[in-house]
This record gives sequence, structure tokens and C-alpha cells, in this order.
Amino acid sequence: MARLSSRVLNIADLRRLAKRRLPRSVFDYIDGGAEAEVTLRENCRAFEEVIFRPRNAVANVPVDLRTTVLGTSLELPFILAPVGSTRMFYPRGEEASARAAAAAGTAYTLSTLSGTRLEEVRAASNGPLWYQLYLVGGREVASSAIERARKAGYSALVVTIDTAVAGMRERDVRSGGRELIGRKFVSMLPFLPQILARPRWLMGFLGDGGLMSFPNVIIPGQGPMQYTDVGPALEQSTVSWEDLGWIRDVWKGPIVMKGVMTGDDARRAADAGAEALVVSNHGGRQLDGVAATLRALPEVVAAVDGRIEILMDGGVRRGADIVKALCLGARAVLVGRAYAYGLGAAGQAGVARAIEILRADLVRTLKLLGCPSVAKLGRSFLGVPSAWPGPTS
Ligand code: FNR
Repeated sequence: MARLSSRVLNIADLRRLAKRRLPRSVFDYIDGGAEAEVTLRENCRAFEEVIFRPRNAVANVPVDLRTTVLGTSLELPFILAPVGSTRMFYPRGEEASARAAAAAGTAYTLSTLSGTRLEEVRAASNGPLWYQLYLVGGREVASSAIERARKAGYSALVVTIDTAVAGMRERDVRSGGRELIGRKFVSMLPFLPQILARPRWLMGFLGDGGLMSFPNVIIPGQGPMQYTDVGPALEQSTVSWEDLGWIRDVWKGPIVMKGVMTGDDARRAADAGAEALVVSNHGGRQLDGVAATLRALPEVVAAVDGRIEILMDGGVRRGADIVKALCLGARAVLVGRAYAYGLGAAGQAGVARAIEILRADLVRTLKLLGCPSVAKLGRSFLGVPSAWPGPTS
């Protein structure tokens, strides 16, 4: 861990280490986006368009990063986003990530498409856990997963609404991500060299059970859903606003709608009774050409008008990015790749390092801004391009 810290100054360093440790297909699965990857790039670029307006020569007191999301106190204003298939990145990846989040005093969101039973992830962590829901396998299958999450003590249900079909991630096709999990030896053959070139990863992957299934998606009469069935399963199980009705009957806790990109959908989420939403374009992995999430945030904040809590994700690679999102009205952000790179680079130590980098960035940025707490951040600390919606300063 000490060696990792001295070499790794930012998330881009963790990305480089992940690239070195993982086969190309696994790295591209994390790193890539949909189609021409315009939205993937825009998510990051939007943060560069917003500038800071510091208040200098003010008292330099200790800064307070704590916030409350859906009634849960968090030490940090960011949460680990749902990321599927993390056991491909590192053995027992979900448990490692949940433990790192808990140690830092923040929440971890477990994806429906994870390779570890949700009860085992609960047992591995003493921190807040959220469960992300896809309706893969249909309503009965989803109901039983929700019921399990409730019994296990997950504190929020995140319903992802931007995945009517799987996005076209061209890098996955080219680098063999699909073949790697396809169980057909002949189609895997062209991609074997990249796997054999990463013996350390391969040993860990095989030691962790090799090709895995999804133990939180139990298909009646068949058992856990297999990796190859994900694409068709997503297409057959599109979630709609009406589904919130029966989901509410099974899940009594807070519901978070993830994948809101317009004021209209934000109002629908509030009208449908969700307690929170995530302004998200799935990290540029679904509809390419949709706006950067930071740009969509002000429209959503205005439309919601304080009725429900607003979170955002997409493109967060530095603590300063988090500060900008909070200034524009997000209560907290979710981070996906920032911690996934850490996990791929070095397991739990890598996730812990990613969290620590963002935490230290946040403290430094708030001090340099002259702001004592995340609660006091607001639009007056930013200069926003005049072409963006909402008031400029
Ligand atoms: C994701 N994301 C995601 N979202 C979700 O609701 N369920 C899922 O299973 C996954 N799986 C997944 C895998 C990988 C490898 C990535 C990178 C992302 C999307 C994720 O929750 C989040 O919206 C984005 O990652 C945010 O963008 P950044 O932080 O990665 O730029």
C-alpha cells in the first residue's frame, strides 16, 4: 500500500496501472464507452469548461466533507457507483470495493450484474450499502432480489432507467470482451495471447472461480443467470415508470432513479415517488451523443426544485470535479471508473487509494476556494459558460 501511494498521485495513474495488470478486453470493458465515445469524452471535458471563483484570504479552518444522503450520514460527498462484473477486475471485487468504501465512511452500490451474492457483500462490509436494480429475468426474479436486499439490510434501491438495450461498445467487440465470457473455446482463441500476457491477473481470476454467473439473478428452474445471457435479458426487461408501483410494494425504503438526463424525466421521478435521482448517462456507455451530465445537472436541479435529492455521475476523475458538481446542486456524486481503475490496478488497496486521492483533492480544493464545508458550496464559487442553462456567474 505504501509503495502504491508514493507512485500513484491521481486517478489517471491508477488507470495506467490497471491497463498494465488487466488483459486488454477487461481494461477496455472498464475504460470504453458507446459508439464514437463522444459522451464518454464530453463527461470529462464539461468539468474543464467550468472555472472556480475562489474567496481568498479567509480563515483556513479544517474543512468538513460530511453530508447526508437519504438520511444516511456519509464522511464523504461521493459514493461508489454500481459497476458490474467486478470479479473480472480483481478476485472478490465486490467485497473488496464495499470494504474500502466502508473504511472511508461512504456507501457502496452493488450492481445486479455482480458476481457475488448480495448477502456475502453485506457480510464483508459494515458500511452503508445500496442495491442497483435491473429487471433482467423479469419481475419475479427482480422481486426476489429486492426482497433479499431488504432482508440483508441494504438501505436504498437504485433503479437504472437508461439501459433499454445494452449500448454498442465497439471496444468490447474488438478486444474480445464478449468472447472472453462466451464459454466457446474456439471463439476465444484469437484473444488468448492478451490473456496469457497477464499471468498475474489470470492466476487471480482462475483462483476466484474463473468464468462466473450472476448469483443475484436467479432464474427459476435454471439457477443464476449466465454471463452470455445479459444482452438479450436487458432488452427483454426494460423498466418503465409504471414498474415503480410494484417495486414500491416490495421495497419500502428509499428509491433512487439512475439515468435522468432531462428536467421532464426529473419531474417524472419526483411525481412517481422516488426519493432521489442520479443525473447519469451511464458513464457514456449507453446512448452516445447525449449531453455531459454536468451540463444536464442545472436543468434537473431547476425542474426538481428541492422536491427530491439529486445525485450525479459521469466523468469524475478529481476531487475538484466533485466540488463543481456540488456547487451546481448535486447533494453527492457517484464515481464509477475512478474506483474501478483502482480495483483493477490493486484490489482493495487500489480502491482505497482512489478514495483517498479524491478525499485529499476535496480538502485541498475547499481550502483553496475559501469554503469551510461541502454544505456551503454553491454556484457563486463557479464561473459557468453562458451557453449553459440556468443562471451564470
Ligand atoms: C457501469 N455502470 C453501471 N451502472 C449500472 O446502473 N449498473 C451496472 O451494472 C453498471 N456497470 C458498469 C460497469 C462499468 C465497467 C462501468 C465503467 C460503469 C455505470 C456506472 O454506475 C456509472 O453511471 C458510471 O460509471 C459513471 O461514470 P464514470 O464515473 O465511470 O465516468
